[in-house]
Amino acid sequence: MIKIGRNDPCWCKSGRKYKQCHAAFDEKIRHYELQGHMVPTHDMIKNEEQIAGIRRSGAVNTAVLDYVEAHIREGMTTAQIDRLVDEKTRELGGIPAPLGYDGFPKSVCTSVGNQVCHGIPSEKTVLKDGDIVNVDVSTIYGGYFGDSSRMFCIGKVKEEDARLVRVARECMEKGIAAVKPWTFLGDMADAVNSHAKANGYSVVEEIGGHGVGLEFHEDPFVGYVAPRGTEMLMVPGMIFTIEPMVNMGSAEIYVDDRDGWTVYTEDGKPSAQWEVMVLVTDEGCEILAQ
Ligand code: MF3
Ligand code: CO
Repeated sequence: MIKIGRNDPCWCKSGRKYKQCHAAFDEKIRHYELQGHMVPTHDMIKNEEQIAGIRRSGAVNTAVLDYVEAHIREGMTTAQIDRLVDEKTRELGGIPAPLGYDGFPKSVCTSVGNQVCHGIPSEKTVLKDGDIVNVDVSTIYGGYFGDSSRMFCIGKVKEEDARLVRVARECMEKGIAAVKPWTFLGDMADAVNSHAKANGYSVVEEIGGHGVGLEFHEDPFVGYVAPRGTEMLMVPGMIFTIEPMVNMGSAEIYVDDRDGWTVYTEDGKPSAQWEVMVLVTDEGCEILAQ
C-alpha cells in the first residue's frame, strides 16, 4: 500500500484531507491486522457515490424478484421465469448480470429440489405441485451490481421440504443479525451454521457469498462454515451477499458435467437458499437487495 500523507486527499475520493477523513478508520483496521486478523483492503470499502449506485441496482433487483413472486406458479417452465426476469429487468432499465457471465446461457438461475444453485432455466423444466425452487436474480444497473435470491414453494409442498425452506431463511436472517462493524465474517458464519446444525441440516462449504457492487463477484469470499472471531474483519462501507445453501442431508455437492453449471446435492436430498446483499453500516447493516 502507498503511504498517504495526512494532508493528502483521502483515498475514498471524498475530497477531504486524509487526516479529516479515513485516517482514524485506517488506524483502527491496522490495529486488528496487527493482531493477526484478515482485514479488508480499500477497494472493498465503497464510497457514498458507489453505495448510492449499488443501492439503486439492489432496488431494481428486489423489484424483479417481487415481480417473479407475483407471477410464479405451477405449470410454468423455468424458461418462462427466465423471460419474466429478462423482460422486467430491461423494462426497469437494467441488464441481467448472469447472461453471458462466464458463458452462463440465461438471465437468471433457477434451482429446483436437489439442485443447490446455478440451475439453467429450460423449456423442459416444468414447475409442478410440491416443488421448491430458488430464483437467483442479479442485475447491472447504472454500471453497478445487485444480487439476491428467494425460495418459492409451488402448490402444496411436503412439510419436511417447507421446513427446510423456512430454516434456510432463518439461517440467512441469523447471518444478517450478526453483521456488525468491527466483528468478523466468522461471527456471521457461525450464526448461520449453528442454526442449520441445530435443525439437523448442513451448509455447503465450497460455494458461498461474495463482495459485490462494482463487479458481480468481488473479494472477500463469504463462507458460512467458520468459527467466531475468524475470517475477515467487517467494517462500514463493505458490501457483500449472505446466501447460505442449506442441505437437508449431507453438505456434499457436485457440478453436472453435462452443462458445466448446475450444482446438485451428492445424496440427492433437497437444498434451499435465500440471498440478500448487505452494506455494513456504523450500527449494523442495511439490506440493499432481498
Ligand atoms: N447469482 C449467483 C450468486 O449469487 C451467481 C450466479 S453466476 C451465474 O452469486 F453465472 F450462474 F449467473
Ligand atoms: Co450472490
